[in-house]
Amino acid sequence: MRTETPPLIRLEDYRPSAFLIDRVDLDIRLDPHATRITADLALRPNPDGDPAAPLHLDGDDLILVAIDLDGAALPAEDFAAGPGGLTLHRPPRRPFTLRLVTQVDPTANTKLMGLYRTDGVYCTQCEADGFRRITYFLDRPDVMAVYTTRIEARRDEAPVLLGNGNPVESGPVGTDRHYAVWHDPHPKPAYLFAVVGGRLGKVETSFRTMEGRDVTCAVYVEPGKEDRAGYALDAVVRSMEWDERAFGRPYDLDVFNVVAVAAFNMGAMENKGLNIFNDKYVLAAPETATDADYAAIEAIIAHEYFHNWSGNRVTCRDWFQLCLKEGLTVFRDQEFSSDMRSRPVHRIGEVRSLRARQFPEDAGPLKHPVRPTAYAEINNFYTATVYDKGAEIVRMLKTLIGAEAFRAGMDRYFAENDGRAATVEDFLAAFAAVTGRDLSAFARWYERPGTPRLTAEGRYDPAARRYTLKLAQTLPVEGPPLVIPVALGLVGAGGPLTGVTCPALDGGVFVLDRPGAELVFEGVAEEPVPSLLRDFSAPVRLDLALSDDHRLRLLARDSDPFNRWQAAQDVALSLILAFDPVRADAFAQALGTFLDGEALADPAFAALVLALPTEGEAADALARDVDPDAIHAARRSLRARLGRVLRARLEGIDAALAPATEGAYSPDAASAGRRSLRNAALDLIAAGDPEAGAALATRRLSCATNMTDRLAALATLAQIPGEAREEALAAFGERFAAEPLVLDKWFAIQATIPEPETLDRIERLTRHPAFSMTNPNRVRALVASFAMANPTQFARADGAGFALVGRFVRALDPANPQVAARLLTAFGSWRRYEKTRRAAASEMLNGIKGVPGLSRDVADILGRTLQ
Ligand code: PHE
Ligand code: ZN
Repeated sequence: MRTETPPLIRLEDYRPSAFLIDRVDLDIRLDPHATRITADLALRPNPDGDPAAPLHLDGDDLILVAIDLDGAALPAEDFAAGPGGLTLHRPPRRPFTLRLVTQVDPTANTKLMGLYRTDGVYCTQCEADGFRRITYFLDRPDVMAVYTTRIEARRDEAPVLLGNGNPVESGPVGTDRHYAVWHDPHPKPAYLFAVVGGRLGKVETSFRTMEGRDVTCAVYVEPGKEDRAGYALDAVVRSMEWDERAFGRPYDLDVFNVVAVAAFNMGAMENKGLNIFNDKYVLAAPETATDADYAAIEAIIAHEYFHNWSGNRVTCRDWFQLCLKEGLTVFRDQEFSSDMRSRPVHRIGEVRSLRARQFPEDAGPLKHPVRPTAYAEINNFYTATVYDKGAEIVRMLKTLIGAEAFRAGMDRYFAENDGRAATVEDFLAAFAAVTGRDLSAFARWYERPGTPRLTAEGRYDPAARRYTLKLAQTLPVEGPPLVIPVALGLVGAGGPLTGVTCPALDGGVFVLDRPGAELVFEGVAEEPVPSLLRDFSAPVRLDLALSDDHRLRLLARDSDPFNRWQAAQDVALSLILAFDPVRADAFAQALGTFLDGEALADPAFAALVLALPTEGEAADALARDVDPDAIHAARRSLRARLGRVLRARLEGIDAALAPATEGAYSPDAASAGRRSLRNAALDLIAAGDPEAGAALATRRLSCATNMTDRLAALATLAQIPGEAREEALAAFGERFAAEPLVLDKWFAIQATIPEPETLDRIERLTRHPAFSMTNPNRVRALVASFAMANPTQFARADGAGFALVGRFVRALDPANPQVAARLLTAFGSWRRYEKTRRAAASEMLNGIKGVPGLSRDVADILGRTLQ
């Protein structure tokens, strides 16, 4: 038996549900192996649905214990039930109630979808289609109901019982059991349902909304870890304030709960009033969490909270509209983080991650439109394209229509769609209405896969003091042009040129909505350097031939911080792809001047300028016949050279920042920026002089007072083979033996060592007592880090790296298909390797293809990857 390609669900086949469910009353008796769920569903025929259709309820891995219709047992010939669904052949054509009793085994639930247990805590995950693993249901987001949930459990096993909405009542049941009732007045789709039961500690605070509602906000964590939940709680309050200020969106319940659990397939989940989080994105203390962890916690807390409006109050009609909530909510959390931190620094981070994850996805076999038109397994569409390119589309819309119209459009979108399951068309309609614009050409961004290319060519006529800039767009798939907002300006030897006119520009933005255009600038007194795509105004690849001198002028003089950073990246990338010692030294000199002038004024920005493009970016730029060893060697020699030329300055930075970074820890962006620059300096010193670097890193490790500095020093040391490294790794492992989230960092650092022995190291680490195949964080730390962030060893020419990841995919698939499928996406760029590696990857992938009984998740990724 061979796994066939799974069937596709298509957007064009969308039909309204034949029935609706208005109310859901649940009674859940938690039990480790036999949890009973009694669901009373108030159903009625959908006036917009097929009046003759049978009633088919979704189910997955369910045992049906009993079924009643309007209080009477249903005759066996009237229905058919199995683990995968329940059909009523002759459903009433009037409102009626169904009572369903189902039974599930939360302890045996290794997929972490539906109701499961993690470290003894009961929790649920229902997006996208997990509610059908709790009871039979119309498990689709356009069926929205008001839920009341009664939860009952043994008091010793689950003293805390949480549900969606507001708490209604609670009390004892007999001597050793208790119950709690929760009511959520806001109609919601089943994917937002959640319950939690367990022994949990909490921290809480209160918040008064702009409407005067007093909200109790709480973060629940493993007992004893309450002191690590404070930052997340603070981020909740800041998110609530911000959404009122920035979007006029108040919170709408009396309680807002966040629960951290150890085993979770994704980052976090926006269940109504009861967000459930991977504990990695809640727990933080200076000794265990890095600055990057703090920033991620802040961003993800905000993201899930913002879903309360963009996702929950206004939800999606179907899963093809996933970007409607995800792209928009990523945009919102990015804006929040930009307001909390340095906006340009945050923008650079967003673009780096877009280029690292979304660009390769959009260039390979897993590419898809931001709004896909067909899927076999929706869980495989929680992608960088839907999330991050989806956010870029919202950002472009704001650039095109301006901040004020954008806010008006958002207000209108929320007002018109509140309580509804909406589409991308509904979203765009709100902005079309407030601006009077036709957005149908802009809407193509949702439909066209692939990254567009923007080519630019300038010509200067000194006699006429005129500069002409030709812009053209090329799309990876043929079709009508996209609407590309190009923010731009001209930079002279002394900085941005003034007194220049160009009627085609509006507020510094040119909208390229044709295949090509020519812009004419008058009054240009000297030969300018064009600064294009400022602030990365569109998710495109830019082709613009500039000399190093001109690029370095942008680094020194442009007013746009993003393009200053970009200019240094461009020079570095071209040096990685084709090394030239003379150009490298000129680049080092320019970096030196930059550091002298402003490193200490904006350390976070300076650290980003020093961070060269990754090996992945270089591979992405090459696009074919990629040899990761060659890229690695080239990048390494460039870094070595920069480290040597800049040595004195880097040491100066190190010394200058020592007092500020060695004091008491604070996770704020300015402090984090100083640490990041000091650690970037350390890493570059080590690149130029490994011996000195190892000594410096070892010293830094011994006096580090926080995880950011400790981990940075360890990461630097991990790149330098020798005793010092092995000793440091061993000491770190022992010191944090009881801290799984810290050991994840330790696993990841070792998995990304670019040396052939890393494979043995990984095998060894899989036998470490803290490693576990059933906790997705452990698997991601050890295996996904290797697959996604160790290009030379993952793509070894002998195929051993591919084989290792392939073994993990196979081993994981039966237990947790979602995580297995996600791991398999590491092969998304396999056709871009040179032929030896390509052959090895192909062999491995085809080997998996022959495995009987693959999950739909893995079969889908595999089928598309090999296509
Ligand atoms: N909807 C979650 C988010 O905020 C992601 C998620 C999807 C979590 C599916 C679990 C399962 O982006
Ligand atoms: Zn989301």
